[in-house]
Amino acid sequence: MGGISVDEQEPNACSVGELLSDMAADQSTDFDMFDASYNADPGPVWKEMRETCPFSRTEERGGFWVTTTYEDAQALVRRVPELSNRQVSVVELPEDTDLTADYHTRAFPPITMDPPENIPLRRMILPFFTPKAVENYRPYTESLCNELIDGFIDKGVCDAAVDYAQQITPRVISHILGVDPNQADEFVGWVRGVIELGFDNPEMRAENNKKLVIFFTEQLALRRENPSDDFISLLAQQSVDDVPLADKTIVKMCVLTLMAGIDTTWSSIGSSMLHFATHPEDRRRLATEPELLSTAIEEMLRLHAPVSVGRVAMEDVDHNDATIKRGERLVINFPAANRDPAVFENPDEAVIDRERNRHIAFGIGIHRCAGSNLARMEMEVALKTWFDRIPEFELSDPDGVTWAAGQVRGARNVPVRF
Ligand code: HEM
Repeated sequence: MGGISVDEQEPNACSVGELLSDMAADQSTDFDMFDASYNADPGPVWKEMRETCPFSRTEERGGFWVTTTYEDAQALVRRVPELSNRQVSVVELPEDTDLTADYHTRAFPPITMDPPENIPLRRMILPFFTPKAVENYRPYTESLCNELIDGFIDKGVCDAAVDYAQQITPRVISHILGVDPNQADEFVGWVRGVIELGFDNPEMRAENNKKLVIFFTEQLALRRENPSDDFISLLAQQSVDDVPLADKTIVKMCVLTLMAGIDTTWSSIGSSMLHFATHPEDRRRLATEPELLSTAIEEMLRLHAPVSVGRVAMEDVDHNDATIKRGERLVINFPAANRDPAVFENPDEAVIDRERNRHIAFGIGIHRCAGSNLARMEMEVALKTWFDRIPEFELSDPDGVTWAAGQVRGARNVPVRF
């Protein structure tokens, strides 16, 4: 495995190569966020990096810079448009890929666009996810969570990630988009084929991407014939400067919303379930003091923030003692920023009644998560419904716990008994 190393061309670039090699000996891992064993417990790696080399470069995945502090994440997200969103994923690309080429911006609008282009498209999405709009989806989410629990409560065991968390978010986002929630398993397969299992497999990624595009192209055609008030129908009526949105753009916006709405939030629900299954004091406190639910959710979002996002330098960008060269990539590590001791006391511990919690799990600035109100509502309903019906539960098989590798971190298997 590669890891963070000294770049001999960059005398000013900070290096943690030796440090992480030592850690690798201990942990059988190195800095690679695509390594599931790193993702199970990244806190110690971030701590050493932050103390030794807070802004560093790894040669993994074709090479990228990575932040670990809160301050760096805040500062670099604001370096727009010189640090561009056109390639937000850190997949390994063919060597001759020009990351500064324009076609990347059209991949998943608006997240892959820079201002001012992204602004009108972002404005079209936001009304579906205001606190008020999200309340319309609460009754559906509540009955869904209850139905899921009905399916396993008598067995006394389940996988709280697979049978619960992962069933909720694809159905809720399908309901919002206006597509059949019964097709959720299919969507999940396609989405994982693009952003999780397909990460190291360009053919799988392309094939699943194509399936998503074909599906939403068909859905769009149906809405053009029979418009309703769902997400797809309303996008179909939008224009920018009096030019109607191209079908391709609408389809890609639907794909983004589906992808962004699935594994992010199920990761947060899964990691929360793992936390409460393994921390009896917190579990009993939440069961007896339900008023702690909202601070507990914010703490889970902080401690187990799922999402890190990429940027590409459109020109040489100086930061601290380093230069991010034109065409080089960068990962804004929001999860590590949330464990920065300069901002959070006892950052690696869960404090479910933490009062001051200015976490940045949803990002900051012009691309800040469009679905944060929805994610919070889903987490709230998922945890509340579970705790109302199953207040006492524990991990049944610690060896059965798994974590997702990649830019979305979260517990993927959480076997519990109750
Ligand atoms: C716990 C759950 C979630 C987390 C931690 C999360 C995190 C993030 C982050 C960090 C970004 C910023 C990306 C950047 O800076 O480039 C983002 C953007 C976005 N998220 Fe989320 N997200 C979550 C759930 C959702 C949900 C449920 C939706 C459903 C609609 C969603 C839709 C989006 C969209 C559309 C963007 C792009 C916004 C833009 O570029 O203007 N997210 N999310």
